Amino acid sequence: LHIVHIAAEMAPVAKVGGLGDVVSGLSKALQKRGHLVEIILPKYDCMNHDLISDLKELDMTVHSYFDGQQFGNKIWVGIVAGLPVYFIEPHHPGKFFWRGQYYGEHDDFKRFSFFSRAALELLFQSGKKPDIIHCHDWQTAFVPPLYWDVYSSKGFNSARICFTCHNFEYQGVSPASELASCGLDVHHLHRPDRMQDNSSHERINPVKGAVVYSNIVTTVSPTYAQEVRTAEGGRGLHETLNFHSRKFVGILNGIDTDAWNPATDSFLKYQYSADDLQAKEENKAAVRKHLGLSSANASQPLVCCITRLVPQKGVHLIRHAIYQTLELGGQFILLGSSPVTHIQREFEEISNHFQNHPHVRLILSYDDALSHAIFAASDMFVIPSIFEPCGLTQMIAMRYGSVPIARRTGGLNDSVFDVDDDAIPVQVRNGFTFLVPDEQGLSGAMKRGFKLYMRNPDAWRDLVQKNMAIDFSWDSSSAQYEQLYENSLARARKSSR
Ligand code: GLC
Repeated sequence: LHIVHIAAEMAPVAKVGGLGDVVSGLSKALQKRGHLVEIILPKYDCMNHDLISDLKELDMTVHSYFDGQQFGNKIWVGIVAGLPVYFIEPHHPGKFFWRGQYYGEHDDFKRFSFFSRAALELLFQSGKKPDIIHCHDWQTAFVPPLYWDVYSSKGFNSARICFTCHNFEYQGVSPASELASCGLDVHHLHRPDRMQDNSSHERINPVKGAVVYSNIVTTVSPTYAQEVRTAEGGRGLHETLNFHSRKFVGILNGIDTDAWNPATDSFLKYQYSADDLQAKEENKAAVRKHLGLSSANASQPLVCCITRLVPQKGVHLIRHAIYQTLELGGQFILLGSSPVTHIQREFEEISNHFQNHPHVRLILSYDDALSHAIFAASDMFVIPSIFEPCGLTQMIAMRYGSVPIARRTGGLNDSVFDVDDDAIPVQVRNGFTFLVPDEQGLSGAMKRGFKLYMRNPDAWRDLVQKNMAIDFSWDSSSAQYEQLYENSLARARKSSR
């Protein structure tokens, strides 16, 4: 198949969060399965250009419509992680991708509706006819309605459109008038069965539009797919998702098992595998030393958390985990920052409070290299999310021999299985979970973790080795996407006959 991903992020060149990892991880896996996979991204000024090889400008200008005019776009192509990537550089006075950051601009709606339109123009004008156009999150949610309402009348209609929502919290809801800029027909779309927002009726909802207009809609875990079909979890879209439930499924993400491999990870001081856990201990000692934590009691478990500090992640519970760890006699490392000023400030205060503490360290920034070292050092990994579409750190943690302590929600519920739960087959039990997102729930799971670690080192070692052997690769998830693509194409062929 010829598959084109249109997205706002792709790791490692242009990554803000898990979306970037998924776009490159899924693409690589599909390519490995023999498909032709291409990606279209904006040409951000702040991308890591060093990670693109053979970057060159194509000898073509793609003209795309916006706000009643045509604008030229330079097109660049390069190779990222072995995949061909097209970068769109608009010649628009708004300097849409010259902002020094990916998101968080007052005109994000304009920036990304422009990009969605230009990406389709690129395919159209270059004569590409992909079988599958796969778009992600609200930033590219304009693609499905544009494809079917604007481009199909130009005879550009042979693709099937897949839309993946990585987080229903972000739907891009905006005043209806904004929609016209990219050439969509507001009167036609501003209706309850199309793009009208289900709660603020004068607004339009791009994610809803993508759900209505796509042939395939996915989200990133089976449990989250169930949760968003309920009034509590659906962020206003549960009725829409239930109405379109036949084309909606949850597929658990994989992780990039080449980038995340303790046996080859060049960020680690000591590479290791499941049968060489001594080297994991040495990584722990190295991180303790690097961060100035005491090594007085090397048998104290090291509890870690690597996350963006946003309400979704259960920030009050992360704070609680620090104090609970100290009470239980462990050490704690937090790596992460917050885009929310008061949360960042609160954690800065906690960090100052523990400045020279022998057992706690908070590093309130984004640091990729350090994150690898911390995964390798960590014994337990806390993820107390309030909701979690998939979550990738629990999988990385297990691959690095750390035991997750996770709230049973979304993708965490599909990948972390409680060691003490008799209802779960013994072979798949791999962590400590809790359901109610409060301090008591988290403390209970942490206490059980500490008890096993302190009292039964053999059982702990078995658990660590078992976790390191779990297959978190994209192999099975990419096969599921492939199946969805094939089924959808087969249905289209049948109905056109
Ligand atoms: C979003 C979700 C996260 C998921 C990621 C990749 O960041 O919040 O749970 O793992 O997307 O799909």
